[in-house]
Amino acid sequence: MAAKPRVFVTRRIPEIGLKIIAAACEMEVWPDQLPPSYEIIRSKIKGCDGLVSLLTDRIDGPLLDAAPKLKVVSNFAVGFNNVDIPAATERGVAVGNTPGVLTDATADMAMVLLLAASRRLVESVEDAKGGRWKTWEPVGWLGQDLAKRTVGIVGMGRIGFAVAKRCRLGWDMNVLYTDLYQSKPAETELGAKKVDLETLLKESDFISVHTDLNPETRGMFNTDLFRQMKKTAVFLNTARGPLVDQTALAAALRDGIIFAAGLDVTDPEPLPSDHELYQLPNCIIAPHIASATVQTRDEMARICAENLVGGATGGKLTALVNPEVEGKRRR
Ligand code: DGY
Repeated sequence: MAAKPRVFVTRRIPEIGLKIIAAACEMEVWPDQLPPSYEIIRSKIKGCDGLVSLLTDRIDGPLLDAAPKLKVVSNFAVGFNNVDIPAATERGVAVGNTPGVLTDATADMAMVLLLAASRRLVESVEDAKGGRWKTWEPVGWLGQDLAKRTVGIVGMGRIGFAVAKRCRLGWDMNVLYTDLYQSKPAETELGAKKVDLETLLKESDFISVHTDLNPETRGMFNTDLFRQMKKTAVFLNTARGPLVDQTALAAALRDGIIFAAGLDVTDPEPLPSDHELYQLPNCIIAPHIASATVQTRDEMARICAENLVGGATGGKLTALVNPEVEGKRRR
């Protein structure tokens, strides 16, 4: 009987995924809550056929060079900016991700942040807890209405669409979007209008970011962009932290350039607890929990495990990030 493929899993993922992997592979799972270092991953994958990585693990060419047998990197995330895709492809390594299954959970989180930031929920709850609730206040803790306002979606992919749908069908909002491509479904089903970024910033009451992180989008939300937004604008980021110049965001929130922000992602992660963004009452920061529901993480684990087993055994991946690797995959 052929030996089972050897794989390294850089963190405990939900049981459903570990079971699939254990049935087909010789598996080692990193047991700690904190990620293994780059050097540890590099030494662990030496003789491995497969690797499960998380968005906290940097997977690059030099790391892959330490694993001449490695056939697959299965990233436990839909985003894969932590993996050098060209480097993997060049070496014949397939890369998998977990698209689709976290769309609703992530869109829900954008809505949680939209509602909470617009209605100053965290600030007012803390005031109540801290004894600063003295009476019913006619002009205290005033937030922003949601109904019939305008939402601007930056990046009308799966998640952007799901947020737009919630805003349109739930609050009858007007939807504007920017994207490289026209989204027919967004236009026909939600009445969305594709505009340039300048128009979106100027006209939106809520701006929700769903673009991927690449050299062009890194730091795109800077002082200039925040200055183009409405003073009442609420800015939401559930995509990737480095899309935002956080110094510029802090200034915009402090100086009343925009009304509030809701962030599920920061740069770095975790954001140090003494960071100035935490001092601002109009900034809500969650610890990257958009996909953190029982059902979604189970589904992510299942796809991630299928990708790993498929890749490590020379078979198909459920979700392949680099189809250009086909034909030169290591077997
Ligand atoms: C992803 O999958 O890219 C998310 O950011 C994790 O929640």
